[in-house]
Amino acid sequence: MRVDVLTLFPGMFHGPLTESILARASTFVPSDGTTADRQEEKPIQIHLHDLRQFGLGTYHQVDDSPYGGGAGMVMRPDVIVSAIETVVSEGEKSGMKKPHRVHFSPRGKTLTQENVEQCAKRDWLILLCGHYEGIDQRVIDGGWIDEEVSIGDYVLTGGELPAMVLVDAVARQIPGVLGKEESAMEESFSESLGRKKEYPHYTRPEEFRGLKVPDVLLSGHHKEIEKWRKEQVR
Ligand code: ADE
Repeated sequence: MRVDVLTLFPGMFHGPLTESILARASTFVPSDGTTADRQEEKPIQIHLHDLRQFGLGTYHQVDDSPYGGGAGMVMRPDVIVSAIETVVSEGEKSGMKKPHRVHFSPRGKTLTQENVEQCAKRDWLILLCGHYEGIDQRVIDGGWIDEEVSIGDYVLTGGELPAMVLVDAVARQIPGVLGKEESAMEESFSESLGRKKEYPHYTRPEEFRGLKVPDVLLSGHHKEIEKWRKEQVR
């Protein structure tokens, strides 16, 4: 899978994408084009693009004041569309077809595990992270975006954290990202349990400050354990 991220703050992605499971799963191409691990083909290639590069004039202006007045700034449609078109044509040159273009906004449809699974089936995602008061509505109305996504009913300072949330949730659906055992668990639980697999977990010690591990988990009866876990899922 290829993921292109359009953002004014590419630096925000370095920590989350260079640590932990995402680091193992993805080739990370920062906005300056350098990459340490291009040799090895990973399940996900993440390309970061600095929206400022598409800005206008000496100061690379990306935003302007809102028509109709009001506080804050709005991201310009010409800048955003030029960024999207450039990234699409770059991707097409490297053999990609038909990107799914996502814009993050509190006005979007709330992200669910079902959306995540749909996104994970795509070969190519373009993630647009808005900032300031948002982006000019004509980017949406003109058909340059396929889906507007919100990660919850609250307002963040921009789409970067939502984009990282989506990349993380999508990554764990891609074959080869999770370990064999985790993937099998994921598969057996996802649809039958309303796509969640969150039953309570326990590890050693068997008793901690007077709190005991449920007997069933120590019993070795796999059928009973599975039944118990299904009852406990939330
Ligand atoms: N941008 C600002 N707030 C957001 C949210 N809750 N979800 C997605 N994008 C956002």
